[in-house]
Amino acid sequence: MTIDQQTTFADVFGYDPTVRYSAPGRVNLIGEHTDYNDGFVLPFAIDRRTTADIAVREDRLLRVASAFDPDGGIHEVSLDALDPATMNGWSTYVFGIAWALQDRGSDLSRATGLDVFIDSDVPVGAGLSSSAAIECGAALAFNDLWDLGLDRPALARIGQFSENNAVGAPTGIMDQSASLLGAADSAVFLDCRSLDAEVVDLGFAAAGLELLVMDTNVEHAHATGGYAARRASCELGASTMGVPALRDLAVSDLHRAEELLDDETFRRVRHIVTEDQRVLDTVRTLREQGPRAIGELLVRSHESMRDDFEISVPQLDLAVEVALREGAVGARMTGGGFGGAAIALVDQAERERIGTAVSAAFAEAGYTAPTVFVVHAAAGARRD
Ligand code: GLA
Repeated sequence: MTIDQQTTFADVFGYDPTVRYSAPGRVNLIGEHTDYNDGFVLPFAIDRRTTADIAVREDRLLRVASAFDPDGGIHEVSLDALDPATMNGWSTYVFGIAWALQDRGSDLSRATGLDVFIDSDVPVGAGLSSSAAIECGAALAFNDLWDLGLDRPALARIGQFSENNAVGAPTGIMDQSASLLGAADSAVFLDCRSLDAEVVDLGFAAAGLELLVMDTNVEHAHATGGYAARRASCELGASTMGVPALRDLAVSDLHRAEELLDDETFRRVRHIVTEDQRVLDTVRTLREQGPRAIGELLVRSHESMRDDFEISVPQLDLAVEVALREGAVGARMTGGGFGGAAIALVDQAERERIGTAVSAAFAEAGYTAPTVFVVHAAAGARRD
C-alpha cells in the first residue's frame, strides 16, 4: 500500500480506532540550551499537533504506522521484547516510550498490545519538536491505556529518557515539558532542576501581536555533532567552576569564570548564565509590562547564541535581522540551533509585510526559500 497524507488508521489496520490522543509541538520563546544546565526555559505549546489514533489489541504486540512514513507499512514490536538496540527509524519515538516506561519501573506485564496510527502537522526538522510531540502523545496514551498512574512531569522525564537512550539524542527536558504542560495563550515557565512549572500569560492577542515562525528549511539534527559538543562545554565549565550545573552560577560569577576558563568555554558559560537571567527577566517583564516590552530580551538572546554559543547559521541571522529591520518587536532563533527556525514577535497588521520581506531577503541571498507561518500558544497533550 502507498501511504500518503490522506491515509488513515482504517486504511492501514483494516478497522476503526477507538481513541485519539494528541500532543503539540513547541516554540521556545526564550531560554536556549539552559534546560540541560538545570536552568530556566519559557516555551509554549503550539497549534500544530501530532495525533495518535489507537485501538487496543488482545495480544502483546505494539504496532505503529504513520501518514508520514516514507516506506509505508506497519512496524511492530512485542511488549515482551522491548529493546532500543532493535529499534530504528521514526517508530523509535513510539516504541522507545514503551521501553522507557518499563525501564524506569512501570509494570507492563499485564499491558495489552495496541495498534497506533500517527499523523502530524508539526513540521519536521524545523526545531519545533516534532519528535517530542510523538513521544508525548504516546506517553500520555500508554499511561492512560495501561493505567500506569504517572503524572505529567514524570511522563516528560520518560520522553526525555527515551530521546536520550533509545533515539540517542542528548537533549534536555524542555520539549517534552512544553508538549505535556502547555496551556492556551500561555507559556510554560519551567525550572528544569525541580520541574516546577508555572503558566505565564503571554497576552499576545490582547496586545495586537502575533508570533511568526520563520523556518529556514536548513535541517538540523541533535543526535549528531554540535549539540553534544555544546553540552560537553557546559559540563566542563560547571566542573571547573566547582558547581553541580551552570544554573548555580550568577551573572556576578562571570568575572571569576573568565579568569578560570579558556575563551571558548567561557563564552559557552556566559551564554547559559546570561540566558537564565533573560528567562527570569522575560517572565517578570511579561507579568509587569506585557509582551511589547520583551523585544530587547529576545534580541539579546539571539546575539548571545550567535556570538557566544555559536549555534546560529547565516539563514537564522538573516531572518532575525530582516524581521527586526522591518519593525518586529523582537526576534531570535529558537530551538537547538544549527538550522531550524527563528521567531519574530510582530504587530498583527505587519505580519504579511514582514514575512514577505524575509522571503525576499532569502531569495536575494540565494538561500532556499523559508517557510513563514503564524503560531498560537495552545493546549498541551490530551485525550481528544
Ligand atoms: C533542543 C533540545 C532541548 C533544548 C533545546 C535548546 O530542542 O531537544 O532539550 O536543549 O534544543 O534549548
